[in-house]
Amino acid sequence: MINNSKNETLSARRRLLGRNLSIAYRNPVKIVRGSMQYLYDEEGREYLDAYNNVAHVGHCHPRVVKAGQDQMAVLNTNTRYLSDLINQYAERLIATLPEPLNVCFFVNSGSEANELALRLARAHTNAADLIVLDHAYHGNTSTLIDISPYKHDGPGGSGAPPWVHTVPLPDLYRGLYRADNPKAVEKYREHVVAVIEQIGPRRLCGFIAESLPSVGGQIVLPANYLPAVYQAVRTTGGVCIADEVQTGYGRIGTHFWGFESYGVIPDIVVLGKPIGNGHPVGAVITTTEIAESFANGMEFFSTFGGNNVSCAIGRAVLDVVQEDKLQLHAHNVGERMLGQLRELMSRHEIIGDVRGSGMFLGVELVKSRETREPATMEADVIVNQLRDEQILLGTDGPFHNVLKIRPPMPFNANDADRLVEVLDQKLRSFSL
Ligand SMILES: Cc1ncc(COP(=O)(O)O)c(C=O)c1O
Repeated sequence: MINNSKNETLSARRRLLGRNLSIAYRNPVKIVRGSMQYLYDEEGREYLDAYNNVAHVGHCHPRVVKAGQDQMAVLNTNTRYLSDLINQYAERLIATLPEPLNVCFFVNSGSEANELALRLARAHTNAADLIVLDHAYHGNTSTLIDISPYKHDGPGGSGAPPWVHTVPLPDLYRGLYRADNPKAVEKYREHVVAVIEQIGPRRLCGFIAESLPSVGGQIVLPANYLPAVYQAVRTTGGVCIADEVQTGYGRIGTHFWGFESYGVIPDIVVLGKPIGNGHPVGAVITTTEIAESFANGMEFFSTFGGNNVSCAIGRAVLDVVQEDKLQLHAHNVGERMLGQLRELMSRHEIIGDVRGSGMFLGVELVKSRETREPATMEADVIVNQLRDEQILLGTDGPFHNVLKIRPPMPFNANDADRLVEVLDQKLRSFSL
């Protein structure tokens, strides 16, 4: 067991690891243990985790750990052999989704899942052009950087390739058309239609979006946006991909999947982060029709995707989500927190907007409610102050001024009260 001091760990990391791996907080935390919604540093200090959505059912949830350990001692091999485990897991996942989403593929990360989703979409449409939302992030591979404006339009990026068409993020608070514009959704839809017209008939492969854009700033899309866009995309033969890597598995409280909250059914759904609770699991679920187009003779194989241990872990995570009714829990705690945060907004001018659903919340900080100038530095100060109070939060949005609340799902009412109380204290210094 290596037990270096925090400074030794930091300097070894700087020496050994790539420089563009970021480190959270000015005073970094060295985490050595996790349990449910709490993390523990090398001195045994407990941190309330209000940020890490990957540990969906809780850090090191005993049932998930045991499922992995038990399966590891029996068998871990690839999908070329028959296994009831992978079939059962696929069946359980498919049962959470509406028809006609009924064919599953397993991979090892959200990035791999989005890559595969693109291949499926291209095989089905014989087209390449894709419409993406501004500020979106879909993963770390070359192709996914190409479809992630958050990366290719950010530091070190070199813009979008010609086959990627970026449309404005329908953010009713800060976007091009806002809540005071009764035609906002229509206007946002027109951008999609304009791309379709510009690229010409049958060249559109599809449209990809997170159901609630996360790095875009914890955005809830306007209710009619996805129905309108899906319709426009399908009219021209394109497919609709829902990136549910951050928003699925009951996190938004009202629904199991983010897209369900808008009454749409995507053609391809992409899963990642929470489904393995920290173990690397990704999945793509699509229609029989699209899966058939993809089955063109070229084998699809992922060495680790769908291995027995991943499936055992994935099934255990789903068991916990469903048996412990974590979606309902997210709804209840989320509603409580939303109410508390809105109350904070009534007292702190620096809060420009509070939004979200369940345990997927955003608090947007502004220097002035009138100009909506982003309070980026203030958001950074607050997140670092909360860290010193042993509460872990992060920021996001194009200006990094949105406090991102996205805890492991066991996060409870007491945790919410503590988070809001400490946030209230810290906001006071900006409200004088
Ligand atoms: C919406 C979304 N899609 C895809 C990914 C990529 O997932 P991974 O990091 O597991 O490859 C991420 C990761 O942050 C994400 O937030």
